[in-house]
Amino acid sequence: MIDRPTIDRILDAAHIVDVVGEFVQLKKRGVNFLGLCPFHNEKTPSFTVSPAKEIFKCFGCGKVGNSVNFVMEHEHLTYPEALKYLAKKYHIEVIEKELTKEELEKQNERESLLVVTAYAARQFSENLFNTDEGITVGLTYFKERGFRQDTLKKFELGYSFEKRDALSKKALEDGYRQDYLVKTGLSIQNEDRIFDRFSGRVMFPIHSLSGQVLGFGGRILKTDVKTAKYLNSPESEIYHKSRILYGMFQARKAISQEERCYLVEGYTDVMSLHEAGIENVVASSGTSLTQEQVKLIKRFTPNITILYDGDSAGIKASIRGIDIVLEEGMNVKIVLLPDGEDPDSYSKKVSNEEFKQFLHKNETDFIRFKTQLLMSEANNDPVMKANLIRDIVKSIAVIPEAINRTVYIKECSTVLEVAEPILYNEVNKLRAQKNFQDRNKYPAAEDLPVKPLPVIKQVRQEPVSFYSEREVIRLLLKFGSTEFEKVINKEDGREEIITVADYIVREITSDELDFNDRVCAKIFADFRFHSEQGLITGDSLFVKHEDPEISSLSADLLSDSHELSSIWKEKQTYVETEDMKLKEIVSDAVLKFKSDKINILRKEIMLQLEEAVKANDTERSILLQKRYANLSVALGLISKKLGGRILL
Ligand code: CTP
Ligand code: MN
Repeated sequence: MIDRPTIDRILDAAHIVDVVGEFVQLKKRGVNFLGLCPFHNEKTPSFTVSPAKEIFKCFGCGKVGNSVNFVMEHEHLTYPEALKYLAKKYHIEVIEKELTKEELEKQNERESLLVVTAYAARQFSENLFNTDEGITVGLTYFKERGFRQDTLKKFELGYSFEKRDALSKKALEDGYRQDYLVKTGLSIQNEDRIFDRFSGRVMFPIHSLSGQVLGFGGRILKTDVKTAKYLNSPESEIYHKSRILYGMFQARKAISQEERCYLVEGYTDVMSLHEAGIENVVASSGTSLTQEQVKLIKRFTPNITILYDGDSAGIKASIRGIDIVLEEGMNVKIVLLPDGEDPDSYSKKVSNEEFKQFLHKNETDFIRFKTQLLMSEANNDPVMKANLIRDIVKSIAVIPEAINRTVYIKECSTVLEVAEPILYNEVNKLRAQKNFQDRNKYPAAEDLPVKPLPVIKQVRQEPVSFYSEREVIRLLLKFGSTEFEKVINKEDGREEIITVADYIVREITSDELDFNDRVCAKIFADFRFHSEQGLITGDSLFVKHEDPEISSLSADLLSDSHELSSIWKEKQTYVETEDMKLKEIVSDAVLKFKSDKINILRKEIMLQLEEAVKANDTERSILLQKRYANLSVALGLISKKLGGRILL
């Protein structure tokens, strides 16, 4: 834990132009600086740094933040890591909260183990490139497999001598402690003798995100030997295989730039893809994909493409992987290679261009993947088809976001020719069984009394109206930085100004509501970021935005035709200017936004209820009625606040 005074000193010292300037060439433009954005590919600079506001902002990709955010984003560091990075740059002594004796011991042990693995990696590399045995056995092997020298260096590959205790002996001579050699798994102790775990293998160091060596994979060179082809370091204080992805250190930059991560099975697959010009690739290395590994990828991108062998093991592994990725709320695509090929062999068989083409042409979403796979077996057999549908529904049910589930249900309905309501029903049943929590907070409290429902015969399926979303965005653009109200800070008694943007962001995020309109969502995210960082952003940034969707919507919303809130226009007999009524207009717009969202939810529930009634599912229909009643109560409260100005 870094203490507060230290953090403040770091923030005071780390001036944005200086921090960014280390990575981006900046040119002065008026009061700001301009450069090429390091977060996306661009030819004309749209990356702006404001020394006055101490922030950077890219008008191309929309990234914004302060010095610490920049370092976090650029170097893929956590908040404390970024602070430490800056502290080092500005020679500020980092005072961390005192650790307990146990914490200290653990930390010391971790550091000692890392010293040992770093030493071993250096030895192995030295062996591979600079010794007779290493060159004739190890280097020759890699060359025969067609790997380039620069790739071997990039992944810091090495070679472990044939002699059963070569490394252990050398390490002890060089003063490394035996217990650490054993704890890292490099050495195996047998009574009073000590052996190398990896003798006679080519070595693949496994790196942490920041490039420390945590463990190793070692591959045997002979094909006839009975021992396992690959040996890996055992679990230790520093090596937890379920939390590590091979190649992440070398891939992280490319993953965030390409906004996609390829997932392969093996060490050599990762290396071959790099040689084919695809650097955004990691491997789960012998373990089946874990939730923690997927979370690691999620730090860099929400998009994963699973790239496995086309054999039955590969297919099985893909299917398992799909649900884990979906459960994290991420997007998953699958590419299967031709039978008998792995990414390593196939990328070497075809040209780089052909390989990339193959990936583009063959990537499918999980619904089509499963459908193609099972339909060939199903052969229009209705029982098999029902199983297939159930299988796909199971995958859809694990997706945490309701909106994404809706999209996939639509897709599934089209591909498999099943009516959407049936699919909804199945998905909801599974979610209820598994007690999945929706990320959406409505409908919450289940304990209100059940009132008889109004009889609604036919639910009208209207297209979702974006009007209230646009009105909120318009107010943000036009009045975002204007004062909404003053409040007294309870802690220090000082007066604080809440801007319109602060108010709107707080209201909408605390109810966990989302924008349906994509462009509105983008603009809102930007306001949210600024508000949460205590920063202010203005309309001109959006009107001049490089994203044409954002700039045109902003310009449209700020034009005169939108001048007056329609709620106001309709219901008032006289008209005042917006500025005079600002507070009321803003809170009304937020309420209207909320009530629209609730109405949409109520409609969804009504549809589900119809299904439940049809299916004679009493338990479920009671639950749905309760939810409906809750939403109606919420709606009633809102309408009261709006002074009955909205008819429901
Ligand atoms: N693996 C392992 N232990 C084994 C076999 C495999 O840990 N006994 C892991 C390794 O990380 C390996 C990955 O699973 O890279 C995929 O295995 P496989 O496809 O058999 O190996 P390849 O990567 O194709 O290895 P190579 O091309 O060197 O034969
Ligand atoms: Mn292979």
